Amino acid sequence: MKIAVAGAGVVGLASAAGFAELGHTAICVDIDKEKIASLQRGVVPYYEPGLQELTLRNMAAGRMRFGTGIHEIPADTEVVIMAVGTPSDPDGDLSLTAFWAAADELADWIEKCACPAVVVAVKSTVPVGTADSLEEKLRMRLPPSESGRVDTASVPEFMREGSAVKDFFEPARLIIGSASAQTAERLTSLHAGLPGRVIFTDRRSAELSKLAANAFLAVKISFSNEVAVLCEQIGADYNDVAGVLGSDPRIGPHFLGAGLGFGGSCLPKDTRALVRFAERSGAPQTLVEAAIHVNRQRTERIAHKLEEALDNPGASTIALLGLAFKAGTDDMREAPSVRLMEELMRRFPGMELRAYDPASTEAARGIVPGQVRICRSAEEALRGADGAILVTEWPEFGKIRAIDFRNWMKRPIIWDGRNLLDADELNAHGVRCIGTGRPILRRIAFDENS
Ligand code: UDX
Repeated sequence: MKIAVAGAGVVGLASAAGFAELGHTAICVDIDKEKIASLQRGVVPYYEPGLQELTLRNMAAGRMRFGTGIHEIPADTEVVIMAVGTPSDPDGDLSLTAFWAAADELADWIEKCACPAVVVAVKSTVPVGTADSLEEKLRMRLPPSESGRVDTASVPEFMREGSAVKDFFEPARLIIGSASAQTAERLTSLHAGLPGRVIFTDRRSAELSKLAANAFLAVKISFSNEVAVLCEQIGADYNDVAGVLGSDPRIGPHFLGAGLGFGGSCLPKDTRALVRFAERSGAPQTLVEAAIHVNRQRTERIAHKLEEALDNPGASTIALLGLAFKAGTDDMREAPSVRLMEELMRRFPGMELRAYDPASTEAARGIVPGQVRICRSAEEALRGADGAILVTEWPEFGKIRAIDFRNWMKRPIIWDGRNLLDADELNAHGVRCIGTGRPILRRIAFDENS
């Protein structure tokens, strides 16, 4: 099948390369000329495991190429996938500026190229009703007798950053939201070869399921974080509680991780968008609103814990281990680290902050406030520090030994914002490790005055 993907972000690129790997011929277009020039040289400008290799392999096989605009899409293309970014606008709605600009170009293309029949499949996360409006817009440009040349569908994407390639080839499910059996059939052929159950539905339900899925994950995380706070208050161990919850197949073990809360380019944005859209639709999503509210409180909670443990936080040096919104990516969009730095600087003027992330050094420039020192290693960040906060669950932080924390730090106190570290082991070896929802007093073997 001949396909085109509009938008060369991680989702667009991984989709184009993934479909090319399945044997289709793909062109991936983006208005960002620099990005396209880089891709044409075979350099993928993202930190995304496996994407570079997948892209290069399919370029070499002649199944994948790039272009700087929709006008470069060949006229015999059968499916155009819209994977244009839809960031938050200042009110919390999804901004469709880039999406509709691409749709305008697409309308020109369909009008001029006389393509026989094209399905426009929307992968971008969009408000419910967008695929309907897109179809109307595209069909308006065609004479009534030809309006059937174009049809739209919603094929929401559930790829995670850091595992986009794996998620493409091993989807939990494939959603095809369409108003026409013929379109659903064409999209089924496009996805042939991928495992995972195909769920057929209408366009609106498909669009809503993407927003609702991310909102549900956010609710699960915020619920976990509130239970973790309760554990801290009453001396229970959240890890054990989560183990019990997760072993119930009705609940499932995923997204029960307590810590600094959710960030990234999707969960914060999609939850806000759902709340806004639902409000306008007369069906307020109070649970999702609460999840957003709880998420905002996570960094305050850590700051409060610091206040409790340090005599003079404003005169302390604190090391942040991790900046990316999660391990496996260099992305700092809406990262808890950013909220945490802002909170610490606001609450403790004079606190010296240092940060180290194995992948986000480049992304950090321009995002991290000037007074935060970006370090090149965990050791550099930890040397002489009065405390450290583990912000991102990078495996390398789990390998730091108690003796290293003790040798490097002035006071070996770690607030583990991801419950990555073996708190019992560290506490038994003279490092005070304060987990999230963990009963520190019951387990601490470290005497701070010794
Ligand atoms: C998410 C969705 O998972 C994916 O299906 C969708 O397509 C895009 O949005 P992503 O943003 O890559 O993917 O990150 P994800 O792995 O879902 O994590 C989101 C945030 O939740 C991260 O900040 C992560 O640290 C946090 N999280 C996740 C927790 O705090 N606890 C958990 O148990 C799981």
